Amino acid sequence: MRDAIFVGTLFMVRFAADAKTIWGTVVDEAGKAMEGVMVSAFDDGQQQSISVFSQADGSFVIDGLRDTTFNVQARLLGQLDEWHENVEEDGANLKFFMKPATGERLELQRPGTSGFGMLKWDNMKDKENFKMMCVYCHQPGTVGFRTPEEPINWETMITRMDGFGGLYRHTQQTIVKRLVDTYSDEAVAKWPKYEAPPSPTGIAVKAKIMEWNMGLQLKAMVHDIEPGSDGLMYAVDMGQNAVVILDPETGERETYRLPNRYRGPHSIEPDLEGNMWITCCISGEMAKFDIKTKAFTITSSAEAPACRSSYPHTLRVDPKDLAGLIWYTDAGRNSCFSIHPKTLKVKEYHLLRKDQAVAAGKGESRGITPYGID
Ligand code: HEC
Repeated sequence: MRDAIFVGTLFMVRFAADAKTIWGTVVDEAGKAMEGVMVSAFDDGQQQSISVFSQADGSFVIDGLRDTTFNVQARLLGQLDEWHENVEEDGANLKFFMKPATGERLELQRPGTSGFGMLKWDNMKDKENFKMMCVYCHQPGTVGFRTPEEPINWETMITRMDGFGGLYRHTQQTIVKRLVDTYSDEAVAKWPKYEAPPSPTGIAVKAKIMEWNMGLQLKAMVHDIEPGSDGLMYAVDMGQNAVVILDPETGERETYRLPNRYRGPHSIEPDLEGNMWITCCISGEMAKFDIKTKAFTITSSAEAPACRSSYPHTLRVDPKDLAGLIWYTDAGRNSCFSIHPKTLKVKEYHLLRKDQAVAAGKGESRGITPYGID
């Protein structure tokens, strides 16, 4: 019993020294409680944030915070952001008064789904075809997508974009007019006012979201994420040619650049010993990252003596495979490969020719671009 009390006391002491709490309420213009508003405490020093949601009575509590200064934001679609800056005091009680967004500021909040919804189709099949050919890279209807101005600019863009020739012929003939009619500045000015969706309630407002910035601001291209057996989170950053690591307990981040030239790290996956394997899509290589020594081993992704394959893409390891082979697709050559984690021996497996494949050579890549594997 005495031990239990002792442990309890120690915990309290640690808690008081390390963690602080910010709490308060969110109300609308009339002073009425607002539920489902996301309240985020930004820790600029650590480049991280913690977000919670206001409850039905408008209250929110952000606990477990580091002992530092925070900028605190309240955000809900349809409302303007509200801020309390340089919040230092532990137990600070903040009150947010939300105001509805109107005009241009409301329009700027319109998400891609709503912008895409403005584009009308004759039938679902045509819409589906456009989605399969364009929407996996773009969010049609967003401000960024609407940059072409004159019909000729749209025409040039779409001809270039539809280089794979995957849009239906009748869509190719009508799409420029359809896009200009929907997304020109004049057309956008006539769109119905954006209606924000109902704010979150119930279990959704119990969520707590922690976020950490990774890589260099505006240059990061963090692709794929894998939890390591050591409790750290691993990802590749194409922007830095590196493996980036986050310790979710301490918020500490580390960067390990691949040696020498740009290798284009694309995807990452642990092998059966917990070391990370990376497809280097630009250099056509496979890299192993030893999670203890932090050393890279880099080798050709093709069978010897070739020093590279084309575009190694996604990788997987079968947890039941005693040899612990790493399997990966190559999006540039219609093959999949395996590599032995110790001997580094590579084996290539040719996939079906396009006239044998189900899509029979249709679609984005004529049906022969192996991307995923599972
Ligand atoms: C593989 C990814 C990819 C696909 C698929 C794709 N695009 Fe793009 N698109 C881009 C990139 C990257 C840019 C910007 C750079 C550039 O101009 O090439 C762009 C630019 C554009 C722009 C100019 C506005 C902007 O966002 O910069 C338009 C309009 C556009 N694409 C339309 C389309 C349409 C229509 C399709 C389907 C036929 C399509 N795109 C398919 C990647 C893609």
